[in-house]
Amino acid sequence: MKRNLLFLLFISAFCACKKEKEPVTQPVQPPVNTETLKSVATFPVGAAIDPNLATNNIGYRTTVKTEYNSITTENTAKLNWIHPQQNNWNFSGTDQLIAFAQANSLRVHGHTLIWHAFEEVDWVKNFTGDSAAWEAMFKNHIQTIVTRYKGKVKSWDVVNEAFTDEGKLRLDQSGNAGQSPNGSIWARKLGSDYIARAFQYAHEADPDALLFYNEYGLENQGIEAKLNAVVNMINTFKSRGIPIHGVGTQTHIGVSAPDAGITNALQKLASTGLLVHISELDILVSDWTNNPNLVYTPQLQEKQSNKYQFIAQTYKASVPPAQRYGITTWNVGDADSWIRTYIKFTDWPLPFDERYSRKNAYQGYLKGLKL
Ligand code: G3I
Repeated sequence: MKRNLLFLLFISAFCACKKEKEPVTQPVQPPVNTETLKSVATFPVGAAIDPNLATNNIGYRTTVKTEYNSITTENTAKLNWIHPQQNNWNFSGTDQLIAFAQANSLRVHGHTLIWHAFEEVDWVKNFTGDSAAWEAMFKNHIQTIVTRYKGKVKSWDVVNEAFTDEGKLRLDQSGNAGQSPNGSIWARKLGSDYIARAFQYAHEADPDALLFYNEYGLENQGIEAKLNAVVNMINTFKSRGIPIHGVGTQTHIGVSAPDAGITNALQKLASTGLLVHISELDILVSDWTNNPNLVYTPQLQEKQSNKYQFIAQTYKASVPPAQRYGITTWNVGDADSWIRTYIKFTDWPLPFDERYSRKNAYQGYLKGLKL
């Protein structure tokens, strides 16, 4: 008996030691039965996900499973990743994300079939052929992906960021509509109606998929021309019978972003009658000005928390229930954010910190979802 007790004590001491060695990314677990984002939200809440983090980082994985019911493929379905050479496909990252989503009952939003940034990929930049060859390549890119994920990816960003801040179609590098670096190889090679055809091709491949146009900066009152261009395009598509079902407003904003612009964008997008997705939310404490010495003061944390709350409340106030596709933040914890890894700013833009603990921003977001 005594030996058994000693053995048990040894085992529990051993487990305690092991526990201390868990990676620092172990999340601070919410107490059982506490509210989570998805438990209080009346529409889907999601995050853009990286498959390596979802597989290898327990804190990341647990947070996604606990808090969200939707994911967006942050990078893996982009042409540079999934279609790195003209005749070479790499489905591994997206397959991995879909398996993760299926195992955890998460909706999958695919991002993005067509984006001007893909012209930086060598095989696209160097693609030669007449307009029929370009059209065939464009169609094949879209339909290969949508067909593979038919029934697994619920919705797609079909075209991303097709307009300039002046509300013109990104087009040419030499003075036509959008100027360099605001051009788009797709518009140059396929003509200005390429967006409509992208939607038609995606619809042919999966008639049940919900098809979105996705854009940034629509909340910026200084560039309302862009918002108007998006709304006009949607209304034109509707009258032409082009299969478009939703619109994404990325919402990469600073803590001081004027509330009026956010409300205006959501109301105007909702007026189209389409589904409205806040598709890439993050709220930069730096207000989009890099300052390596920035300190995340309690005041800034509160300001950010209030803005998260405002976003959730305003989404509900501006978008009718049947049009709410949901709110997606652009990744999970601060250390995972593109603002740090890609833009290289000193910032804390997301609801979870580096260890996946809930921040003040989280509490504001939760409150806004509940109100
Ligand atoms: O994974 C590699 C890593 O192995 C390598 O060492 C490193 C070196 O640069 O690159 C890593 O990949 C980077 C990847 O982010 C993961 O961090 C890519 O270079 C980098 O280009 C990629 O940036 C992404 C960016 O789009 C460009 O595609 C960001 O993660 C992603 O958050 C960002 O997302 C966009 C949306 O698609 C559209 N809206 C704006 C948003 C922000 O730009």
